[in-house]
Amino acid sequence: MQARTRFIGVLLSLVVLLVGTSSVFAQVQLTDCMECHNDTTVITDKQTAMSESMHGTGESYGRGTRNSCAGCHSGGAFSKMAAAGLRPDQVEEGDPNPTRQDCRACHQIHTSYTTADWALETVDPVTLYAFEGVTYDGGKGNLCANCHQPRRAIAAPDADGNIAVTSTHWGPHHGPQSAMLLGVGGASAAGDASLHGTFVADGCVTCHVGENDSHTFEAVDASCLECHAEDFDTEGFQDEIQELIDQLGELLVAKGLLDEEGHPVVGTYPAAEASALWDYIFIVIEDGSRGVHNPAYTRDLLEAAIAALQ
Ligand code: HEC
Ligand code: HEC
Ligand code: HEC
Ligand code: HEC
Ligand code: HEC
Ligand code: HEC
Repeated sequence: MQARTRFIGVLLSLVVLLVGTSSVFAQVQLTDCMECHNDTTVITDKQTAMSESMHGTGESYGRGTRNSCAGCHSGGAFSKMAAAGLRPDQVEEGDPNPTRQDCRACHQIHTSYTTADWALETVDPVTLYAFEGVTYDGGKGNLCANCHQPRRAIAAPDADGNIAVTSTHWGPHHGPQSAMLLGVGGASAAGDASLHGTFVADGCVTCHVGENDSHTFEAVDASCLECHAEDFDTEGFQDEIQELIDQLGELLVAKGLLDEEGHPVVGTYPAAEASALWDYIFIVIEDGSRGVHNPAYTRDLLEAAIAALQ
């Protein structure tokens, strides 16, 4: 840390020398750097929180070397994609040196060299590319929805009314939370957007970052108090959803669509059974909120899927 501080010190001195002599640095004041590089925890508290988060520790950034994965899995490729106004499925090159979802992926770090650089990389509404005409518009949460959206919708049944489960990675892909909030992406029942999807001003950011700028990106309990009473029983609600999840999981294993480790079994199945498997993956493995993102849609999908297998 000391070496790094010294390094920054040397750089800061260079900036002082350059001020007034270079067009690049002409407008940058040393005091601007010190708005961030100072003795507060403005940077380090975020680094600490991130060192406990999946964004900061996960290994899937390595997938960013492939063009079809880069836009969401490499922070550097994401910044380029956002600047070019592209969607993840339009990225043409992989990132040879992929980075995690770090400060530079989400913020404009070292663009103006002022605190304006905390601005988010993008907050434009996100057209979900797996569907026709579905847009997520959750304010600052749009940043997250660029990556946290499904890659696939379920295929239509073939002439015999069957749907093929083509691989053990079959499903919408991890991170379909924006679609879940909007009530799309499932297979066994139609849905509507939840009030969490339409009524929470900054969407994901309201609930997962919150007023104190938490950077673990886990749901922040205090953020619920804006609308729910202190004794509101989220756990009780999630337990009820978990019971439906367990019931559906057992039925899928009994029918041979899901193996004991929770992976889909490759094969061709009647559409209603494949749809039940799809919804299990969508809800349990990929959305991960146990119903909170869209209470009514999650319950409807689980109940319809269970009915289809009984
Ligand atoms: C808006 C806040 C902000 C301002 C203003 C700012 N920085 Fe930074 N700086 C950061 C952040 C955030 C990081 C990355 C920290 C991390 O990766 O964990 C960083 C990293 C650095 C590093 C470490 C190497 C690197 O690039 O990651 C140096 C050196 C540095 N800044 C120098 C400067 C200088 C010189 C200025 C002024 C000309 C400046 N910074 C202005 C926020 C800022
Ligand atoms: C550049 C793409 C990208 C952006 C932007 C992004 N994420 Fe992520 N997120 C990911 C990836 C990739 C992972 C999985 C990391 C891994 O496992 O290696 C992840 C993981 C997570 C996890 C952990 C999930 C788990 O299974 O434990 C949460 C929670 C999360 N993100 C929330 C958010 C929120 C909230 C935002 C917006 C503030 C956001 N993400 C913005 C790509 C992104
Ligand atoms: C639209 C953005 C997007 C694209 C494109 C994408 N992913 Fe992901 N991926 C995510 C997000 C977001 C997560 C984390 C979701 C969560 O944990 O809730 C994730 C998670 C994963 C995980 C699980 C991470 C773990 O360690 O458990 C794997 C594996 C993965 N992706 C592989 C890939 C591969 C391979 C590709 C390219 C063929 C790809 N992804 C393309 C957004 C994307
Ligand atoms: C996954 C995206 C993401 C990553 C990674 C991320 N941030 Fe943030 N950060 C956010 C969001 C979203 C907010 C809330 C912005 C708002 O409310 O305007 C935020 C807010 C902040 C703020 C408060 C900004 C303000 O205007 O008051 C600071 C400071 C900050 N982040 C620093 C960092 C640093 C330092 C890192 C790296 C160690 C980092 N962030 C990594 C998404 C991210
Ligand atoms: C109304 C508040 C709310 C909104 C809005 C919201 N979430 Fe969540 N999210 C939650 C809660 C609560 C959980 C469940 C946490 C738990 O069970 O521990 C959760 C779970 C998750 C998980 C799974 C975490 C894990 O550990 O596996 C991810 C990833 C996630 N949300 C990302 C997002 C993204 C991305 C958005 C926006 C597209 C979003 N959320 C919008 C409240 C919210
Ligand atoms: C901006 C307001 C708002 C915020 C913030 C918010 N919620 Fe909600 N929540 C609602 C509304 C509105 C409903 C729908 C109530 C109804 O069904 O009539 C709801 C419903 C729910 C339900 C379903 C209850 C049921 O029995 O169907 C759960 C669980 C829930 N919220 C949990 C959370 C959690 C956890 C957080 C914080 C991470 C949160 N909410 C943040 C407004 C909010």
